[in-house]
Amino acid sequence: MGLNEYFEFCVSTKVMYGENLAAEVGGEAEALEGTKAIIITDKGVLDAGLVEPVKKSLEDSSLELVEVYSDVPVNSEVEVCKEISELGKAKGVDTLVSVGGGSVIDTTKGANILLSVGGDLLEDWQGTHLVPEPLKKHIAVPTTAGTGAEVTLGAVIKNTPAGQKISFNSKYLLPDVAILDPMLTVSMPPRLTAATGIDALTHGVESFTSLEHSPPADAFSYYVVQTIFMNLPTAFENGKDLEARGYMLIAANMAGTALSTIMSIGACHGMAHAAGGLSPVEHGVANAIILPVVMEYNLEHCADRYAGLAGAAGVDVAGLDDVAAAKKVTGRITEFIRGFGLPQTLKEAGADIALAERMAEEAMGDGQMYGNPRETDYDEILALFNRLLE
Ligand SMILES: [Fe+2]
Repeated sequence: MGLNEYFEFCVSTKVMYGENLAAEVGGEAEALEGTKAIIITDKGVLDAGLVEPVKKSLEDSSLELVEVYSDVPVNSEVEVCKEISELGKAKGVDTLVSVGGGSVIDTTKGANILLSVGGDLLEDWQGTHLVPEPLKKHIAVPTTAGTGAEVTLGAVIKNTPAGQKISFNSKYLLPDVAILDPMLTVSMPPRLTAATGIDALTHGVESFTSLEHSPPADAFSYYVVQTIFMNLPTAFENGKDLEARGYMLIAANMAGTALSTIMSIGACHGMAHAAGGLSPVEHGVANAIILPVVMEYNLEHCADRYAGLAGAAGVDVAGLDDVAAAKKVTGRITEFIRGFGLPQTLKEAGADIALAERMAEEAMGDGQMYGNPRETDYDEILALFNRLLE
């Protein structure tokens, strides 16, 4: 996989990092010339008290805080986007502040499309580059270190009646400001820390091996993998370690930056979206389960790329050819993932073997499959799902 003939790299979100930076949201909203704000979050984040500094900051600002909406479900949901947009319209909201993980931030992106442009989320806007104009202001405050959604131009939103995860990609979905405050991530329990951290690791690995890879995205992805190898074990074992928490938040954010320049990262994400749409497996856990088998599946098709991550994964590959080096690197990544005690199969994570064919169909239709370095086909993807569901 040599240098691609063409690539684009554009990062437009203002990214800010600092302890207790959540208290600066009001000032950023003023700088964006907002007048009426809504906070969008979920019950867990609200109950953990993480919304408080954001709420206080907005109340102390020149903006009017019209609502704290806290009913975002674990998997973002099309109906919830509609509900928030209607609330926003009724109250004249011009500034959306999302406080939460990927589901909250993606739900806010979906709600913002409907609030700003109108139309029907599924019929009009699913897909790539369809949103026609800039949306209302969005300040994203992540409380997990995983999706990097605070700096991506995509949103994945669940359409529950169809059991599908729907993708939206548009430069207008990039939040205006991303506020990275490690104080908001210290209360994450170890399992969530691991699952979200492995999601970020998967973003790093898959954007590095995507057919759409580019040198600037590679630089981000390499740093992401290295930083996660160095900090996720500490954040997992000692959640109060602010430096490890900070590095994880930054790594997840930088992975999001790489992702925001790559429309399609690979088969692990395509399969994880299908598994998450049809079963209760969380996204990060799905990636932890699927990435090892996808790396094995892809190995000979992008051995040089896996080998290129050797230094980031702390693996010595001196004297080895690309395939041997790739085996060593992917083996190390698998061993690293397994060290966090997450489920190792979709069956173990609660998914049913009867869903294998539907999962394979959904995965083959997922926009993340096209960038996979090995051309996929239905039978091969079904075989991978069968392996993980038996
Ligand atoms: Fe992901």
